[in-house]
Amino acid sequence: MNIRVLHNKRIVLGVTGGVAAYKAAFLASRLTQAGAIVDVVMTEAATRFVAPLTFQAVTRRAVHTDIFALSPDSEPDARAGELQIPHITLAKSANLLLIAPATGNTLAKLAHGLADNLLTAIALATSAPLLIAPAMESEMWAHPATQANVATLVERGATLVGPAAGHLASGAEGVGRMSEPEEILEMARVVLGQKGDLAGRRMVVSAGGTREAIDPVRFISNRSSGKMGFALALAARDRGAHVTLVTAPTALPNPVGVDTVQVESAAEMRDAILSASDGADALVMAAAVADYRPGEVAEQKIKKTDGALTLRLTHTPDILAEVARLRELGRGPKVTVGFAAETEDLLTNAREKLQYKRLDLIAANDVSAADAGFAVDTNRVTLLSADGTAEALPLMSKEEVAHTIWDRVSSLIQE
Ligand code: CTP
Repeated sequence: MNIRVLHNKRIVLGVTGGVAAYKAAFLASRLTQAGAIVDVVMTEAATRFVAPLTFQAVTRRAVHTDIFALSPDSEPDARAGELQIPHITLAKSANLLLIAPATGNTLAKLAHGLADNLLTAIALATSAPLLIAPAMESEMWAHPATQANVATLVERGATLVGPAAGHLASGAEGVGRMSEPEEILEMARVVLGQKGDLAGRRMVVSAGGTREAIDPVRFISNRSSGKMGFALALAARDRGAHVTLVTAPTALPNPVGVDTVQVESAAEMRDAILSASDGADALVMAAAVADYRPGEVAEQKIKKTDGALTLRLTHTPDILAEVARLRELGRGPKVTVGFAAETEDLLTNAREKLQYKRLDLIAANDVSAADAGFAVDTNRVTLLSADGTAEALPLMSKEEVAHTIWDRVSSLIQE
C-alpha cells in the first residue's frame, strides 16, 4: 500500500557486509511496495551474504556494486550516448541515503570521509539526508572508536536508528542487532518528512476506545481500533509536525517519532489532552471516548449471583466541550477537529456536535458501513466546517483521510 511521504521518493539503500543484510531485502521490498524508487548499492562484503539478484527482484531495478561501472544514461535530461557515472548520478537523484545494515567498518569510513567503494563515494557526493541502521557485535558497537564515529556522523546531521538489543550473529545477547525493517521504514518516513509543510507545528491527536473499569478485571469499552487516530498521528509526523498522540489501549505498535501518552479511562484522557493541547496548533479527537462509566468501581472482583446485576453509570467529562471552554478563555489549541461516529442521521447529528463542541471541523463517520469506521483500513467521511460547508470524501485509505484533514487544518491555522 502506498505511503504518501515515500511515494516516488528516490531512496539509495546501501547494504554493507553483515548478516542483517538478509533483513535489508525485506526492507527494500517494503519500501518499494510503499511507492519508493529504491536503488540498492551493495558493498563487496554484502554480496557474500545476499545475492544482488534478491534485491533486483524485490526492487525491480538494477543493483549497483561497482564504482567503475559506467552505463548508458537513462535519465530524461541525458544527452544521447552519454554515459553515467554511478556514484554521481545516484548521489544527485537521492532524496534519502539509507544504509542498512551499516557495519562498524562503514561507519568509520563515513566518519572520516573515505570514498573507497561505490556506497562511500555516494555518501561523500550526496546532499541527501543520511539515515543509518548499524549492525555489529556488541563489543564493536561499544568500542570508543565506533562511538566517536557515530557521534561525528550525528553531529553532521545523520540520523541513527538502533542498534537494538537482542540475539547477535555470534550467538551472544547484547546491543548491536540491526533494528527491525518496519522500524527503519518508519524512521525513513520521519527523515523524509522533516521539512514538510507542517514543520514547526505542534499537533495533538487522540486515538482508541477508552476503558471504564467495573472492577479489577472488567471494563466497559467500544469497538474503536485506534487506526484512524494512529493514521492521523503518522500523517502529521510525515509532514514534519511535532505530534503528541494520546491513546487508549489498542493493538497497534507505538509509533516511531511521535510522543505517545498511554491512557485508559475518559478521565485520564481528559487530563492528558488538556495538558498537551494547551498552546498547540491543533487538536484532532479521533478517540471513541466513553460517555458513561460505572459510578463506583468495585474494589474486588464482582462475584456471580443468581439475581440480575445492575450497574449504575454516571457521565464522563466531554473533553471537546471542556476544550471549547478553555478556548473561550484564550487557552487550548488554535484549531479543534472532532469525529462524529454515527449509525443514523449522520449529517444532522454531526452538525449538532460541531456547534455544541464549537469545533472548526468535524469528520462525520458512518460507523455502520463495512468499509468505513471501526477496525478497517479505509474510511468514508464527510467534512463539515464551522462556516457551513460540507465535503463528502470518497472511500479512501485512513492515511489519505488523515492527509485531507491535515490539509484543512493547515489552512485553518494560517487563517
Ligand atoms: N468526545 C469527547 N469527550 C467525550 C465524548 C466524545 O471529547 N466524552 C469527542 C470524540 O472524540 C469525538 C467527538 O467528541 O471527536 C464526538 O464523539 P461521539 O462519540 O461521536 O459523540 P458524543 O459527543 O459522545 O455524542 P453521542 O455519543 O451522543 O453520539
